[in-house]
Amino acid sequence: MFVRMSVVVLLALVLSACGDASTVGNEAVSRSLKPADAELASIYNRSCRSCHTVAGTGSPLTGDKIAWAPRMAKGINTLLDNVVNGYGGMPPLGLCMDCDADQFEALIVFMATGQ
Ligand code: HEC
Repeated sequence: MFVRMSVVVLLALVLSACGDASTVGNEAVSRSLKPADAELASIYNRSCRSCHTVAGTGSPLTGDKIAWAPRMAKGINTLLDNVVNGYGGMPPLGLCMDCDADQFEALIVFMATGQ
């Protein structure tokens, strides 16, 4: 009995130690970032931010250059297509129904670089 309890406690400690620090850190950083341009910031806040600052959505977090590197390597045209058509857990147009290609491109560059 005692042994089994210890294993459970140990497992809980190990799990909380691995998951949190980096994830929460990244989320906090991503939440602190916003596009310098006011119009872009407003689009970002109403469309992209709700997912791209929450690790549990499976999205690459804003400003997380390591997560964005393999995405950016696909090239901007592929990324634009994937935003417009939807991709994995991301809905078509990233929920911005009135965004144009230039705005999507600026949003992608902002999220990938954090600036
Ligand atoms: C409902 C949640 C959600 C919203 C809103 C959202 N995204 Fe995403 N996005 C995701 C998820 C989840 C992924 C990862 C999909 C995958 O790799 O399976 C992703 C991936 C991406 C990618 C990488 C695609 C690729 O080919 O690797 C880009 C670019 C992107 N999002 C841009 C945006 C932009 C721009 C907005 C706002 C206009 C936005 N997203 C809004 C959830 C969202």
